[in-house]
Amino acid sequence: MISPTAFIHSHAIVEPGATVGAGTRVWAWAHVLPGAVIGDDCNICDHCFIENDVTIGDRVTIKCGIYLWDGARIGNDVHLGPNVVFTNDLYPRSKQAFEVGMTIVQDGASVGANSTLLPGITVGNYALVGAGSVVTRNVPAFALVRGNPARRVGWVCACGQKLKLSATHPHFTCQCSKQFEWVGDELIADS
Ligand SMILES: CC(C)(COP(=O)(O)OP(=O)(O)OC[C@H]1O[C@@H](n2cnc3c(N)ncnc32)[C@H](O)[C@@H]1OP(=O)(O)O)[C@@H](O)C(=O)NCCC(=O)NCCS
Ligand SMILES: [Zn+2]
Repeated sequence: MISPTAFIHSHAIVEPGATVGAGTRVWAWAHVLPGAVIGDDCNICDHCFIENDVTIGDRVTIKCGIYLWDGARIGNDVHLGPNVVFTNDLYPRSKQAFEVGMTIVQDGASVGANSTLLPGITVGNYALVGAGSVVTRNVPAFALVRGNPARRVGWVCACGQKLKLSATHPHFTCQCSKQFEWVGDELIADS
């Protein structure tokens, strides 16, 4: 179902059966297949392709030139920079059946322009992937990763500030007042 408050550009194709939520905008030359589910207040920019087995949360920005293949799961408040590449077949061969690898981008995460996410990857909540990265391993929540292969080089708050964490202090408060603590190797937001 297409919400009556969604905007579909006259040059976009949204196939019957696709779900497009309230206030979402789908711009020119985008193509949304029948099984796709897109939430509310999203922006699907020019030249995007959204396959059937794809779910997209609310308030998601999908910049130009992104193809979301079967198995892509995009949370709420995610930002995908221009030309981010998703993949779902780790050992591809033409016209051979394959097991679809799920690619999950969790709530609040941002993926920089022209990055490639390999199949089976989870990008954790509020993680930030630098432009042009090749992501071959899961990205922890709040991690800042970049490069090929993408390596963790820091931590970043939900507000976008880089976090200057101390290994000896288990608690940390960002300038925006969001609080964090280490639980094992994981950085957990308290508030
Ligand atoms: C990665 C990023 C978040 C900056 O991270 P940072 O840790 O603050 O990086 P800095 O700017 O302090 O640079 C530190 C080093 O990383 C390098 N670097 C910066 N961004 C990089 C990237 N995407 N890939 C590889 N190296 C990068 C810098 O050249 C610098 O290298 P040097 O120490 O050898 O001089 C930012 O550069 C980036 O890629 N943002 C995403 C932008 C984008 O795609 N937006 C999409 C919406 S338009
Ligand atoms: Zn913050």
